[in-house]
Amino acid sequence: MTSPFIIAIDGPAAAGKGTLSRLIAEHYGFHHLDTGLTYRAVAKALLDAGLPLDDETVAEKMAIEMELAGLDRSVLAQHHIGEAASKIAVMPAVRRALVAAQRKFATKKPGTVLDGRDIGTVVCPDATIKLYVTASPEVRARRRYDEIVGGGGAAVFDEVFSDVKKRDERDMGRADSPLKPADDAHLLDTSEMSIDAAFRAACDLIDVALKKD
Ligand code: CDP
Ligand code: CDP
Repeated sequence: MTSPFIIAIDGPAAAGKGTLSRLIAEHYGFHHLDTGLTYRAVAKALLDAGLPLDDETVAEKMAIEMELAGLDRSVLAQHHIGEAASKIAVMPAVRRALVAAQRKFATKKPGTVLDGRDIGTVVCPDATIKLYVTASPEVRARRRYDEIVGGGGAAVFDEVFSDVKKRDERDMGRADSPLKPADDAHLLDTSEMSIDAAFRAACDLIDVALKKD
């Protein structure tokens, strides 16, 4: 393996990207970056400072100051932060700053796994292998709902379902780096798959790419 091996994993909210990426990174001994956390960190910094979510110059400054080392999943996981993240993610200046940090991370050796919305299309178009992980909106809303309720929170399924669809529309409909599968991505629909089955299917594809590299 000469250049770093890059695994790009994209897909909509609650498709299972994060879970799959963590398992893959651990299995192959690669570094992992959940790029959604970078957008969440910028959104949280704005919310904490009482700053608006629609001022691109202010949001860009936060994005430039964002430190990959400071990203904490447990702090950034809340539902309202994901919603706010998708609002600032439409801003080209914010994306430029965060994509620069993500690309730098992607060069780590021996390899990296990056998951998000635009890894295979924009951040790492030359990734060694690209997976587009998806599931039906109903299944994804059910997973998110179970996560909230399982964590002791309160939720109404119809509201979670409507939020998932709203976020899909925002992520797929934006002008800059919309969510879509790269032309050369392998599609993995996990609607009917357990985490373990999705992990095995992903490893089968990655093993083939590793042999070619
Ligand atoms: O990162 P992303 O938002 O795409 O999804 P995730 O956080 O990895 O997964 C969302 C939830 O769905 C988690 O609670 C997973 O355990 C669950 N999941 C599942 O039940 N079956 C799968 N095949 C994948 C994920
Ligand atoms: O975990 P979940 O799939 O709900 O969301 P996330 O991956 O943490 O991402 C939160 C939001 O950040 C997404 O809805 C996108 O709007 C944005 N995002 C993006 O635009 N590009 C990425 N590479 C990752 C996230």
